[in-house]
Formats: sequence, C-alpha cells, structure tokens
Amino acid sequence: MDSRILEIFSCIKQCAITLQELLQCDDSGYLASTNASGDTQLAVDVRADRILEDALLKLACVGGVCSEEKSSALYKQKVDSSLVESTFLQLDSSQSLESSLLIAYDPLDGSSLFDSNLSVGSIFGIYNGAFSASALVAAAYIVYGPRLEVVLACERVEHCVYSGGQWRSKGALQLESKGKLNAPGGTQKHWSKEHKELVESLFAKGYRLRYSGGMVPDLHQILCKKGGLFSYPATSDAPNGKLRKLFEVFPFAFIYERAGGEAINGRERLLSLSCDGLHDSTPCFLGSTEEIAQVRAIYMNKER
Ligand code: AHG
Ligand code: MN
Ligand code: MN
Repeated sequence: MDSRILEIFSCIKQCAITLQELLQCDDSGYLASTNASGDTQLAVDVRADRILEDALLKLACVGGVCSEEKSSALYKQKVDSSLVESTFLQLDSSQSLESSLLIAYDPLDGSSLFDSNLSVGSIFGIYNGAFSASALVAAAYIVYGPRLEVVLACERVEHCVYSGGQWRSKGALQLESKGKLNAPGGTQKHWSKEHKELVESLFAKGYRLRYSGGMVPDLHQILCKKGGLFSYPATSDAPNGKLRKLFEVFPFAFIYERAGGEAINGRERLLSLSCDGLHDSTPCFLGSTEEIAQVRAIYMNKER
C-alpha cells in the first residue's frame, strides 16, 4: 500500500483515541452557529473538527482538508506550505503541493444522537490531488460505540478494534450477495411513491428494520452482518438527498464496493458522479448486490 495512505490511516487511529476521550465529556450542548449545510453545530462537532484538522495538516503527505463543519477547504501552498482557504475542489497545479493527498472528513457523524448516548462516528475520504469521486484512493471511518473501532479501506476493507490500549485487526469485512437488514433514511412523509414501494417490498420479503439515524453505525452494522440495504433517497423536502458526497457518500461508496457490495444513486454508480461544490449532496443506496438490483429495478422503472 502507498506509504502516504498508511501514514494517514495511522493518524486516524491515533485521532480516534483522542476523539473517544472528547466524547466522554458531558457536553451535548448546541452552539449558536450553523455549518455550510445549515445544521446547528454542537460544541463537540467543532472541537472534533479542530482536532482532526490539526492532526491531518501536520502530515507532510496531506496537501489540504475540507470538512462538514468548514465552509471552505484549507490547502497548503507550494511555496511555504502556508494555508489558503478556498471553495474550489482543487488548487491549480502552480500553487498546489506535488504528490500530496487531500482529505475530506465528517468529524462527527450522527451528532444529533450524541445527547441520547447512541453510537456516533467519523468518516474520511482520501483524494489524490482533487476533491472528486474519480480521485478517491482510500476511505476510512471510526465508530465510537461500546468499543472503539476503525474500518480502513484501500485494496481491502480492514476492521480494527481498540482493546487493552492497542489496535488489533479483526480481519477483512466482506459482504455476501444478500442480507437481511433494511436501513431506510429520510422522513417517510416526504418519500416518493417508488421509494415507499421499495421499502415495503423489502419488508414483505422478510427484511428487518435496523436504523439508528447515524450513517456510520447503520452502515457498519450492515457490513458486520454481511448484507442488507442502507438508503437515503431524494425526498420532496430534499430533492438531492441529505448526505454529502465528499465526506459521507463517496467514502462509504468506496468502502462498500471494496467489500463486494454496490453503491448507486438509484440509477448510476455513486463513484461515477461529478461534484461541483464541497457540500454537494446526493440520494444514495448502499448494500449488497441483490438489494441494489432491487433498487435499480424499481428506480429505473420509474424513469420509463
Ligand atoms: P451529521 O450528524 O454529520 O450531520 O450526519 C447525520 C446524517 C447521517 O448520519 C444520518 O444517516 C442522517 O443524517 C439522518 O438524517 P435525518 O435524521 O435528518 O433523516
Ligand atoms: Mn454526517
Ligand atoms: Mn457531522
């Protein structure tokens, strides 16, 4: 594996321990501020964002970062590595550091679950030179649950657990062609007719509802149980879905594909989609191959 990616994975494991300690605090309060997507920020969202920004930008192989909690990306400049803020998806080559990687991260995913003490996570997409799906070279997430775990994906999807003060590998995560779990996101009142049909047909086939409202634990559960479907569709109140491409959808699409599953927007592969802005969102369906075939059958039929 590229030594730069190994270095970033090792930094993510170290940050996971620090962030787990941060989350042990009893501060579930909201701030007065909102992020670029209009979500009210928690104090822990902002503190987690800062911890990750500082740690990742210290790595020589990292040329820039963007996150859910920042309106602009921060890029290191070629001349002296000083930081420049930009809403562009890459710096032009005369300004950008050569052979450096860019990291898009969601510092705290599922932060609305934090006050009720449910599992939350952090998500990372590692991009080569530009924030775009075609430049994604690795992805990772952290799960803060009863145990601290990380999942690191490059060629394979490695599952690690923190135990007795050490990270231990639990081996590779691999999906089977079909599972039993259904995790349907979004407000039901705003679902389309096709989406209701999809969800009902899965329940009619015996799928079980497993949905916490946190993308990380919901997708992690499907990976650990080897199959199922997670969806966050287009809804009447959010026609582009809610989940953001660069730091939520693309990293998990990469992880699911590497684990033998598929990830689509209803018709197209998520990793073939373009991205025009740092905070763009998309409808998304991630799962094992048989469930994704059912999504295609219903959503492609809608187009006819
Ligand atoms: P975040 O806390 O980073 O804003 O992300 C929350 C996401 C995701 O974890 C989850 O799948 C989805 O929001 C749930 O959203 P709604 O409860 O608004 O449907
Ligand atoms: Mn999130
Ligand atoms: Mn978040």
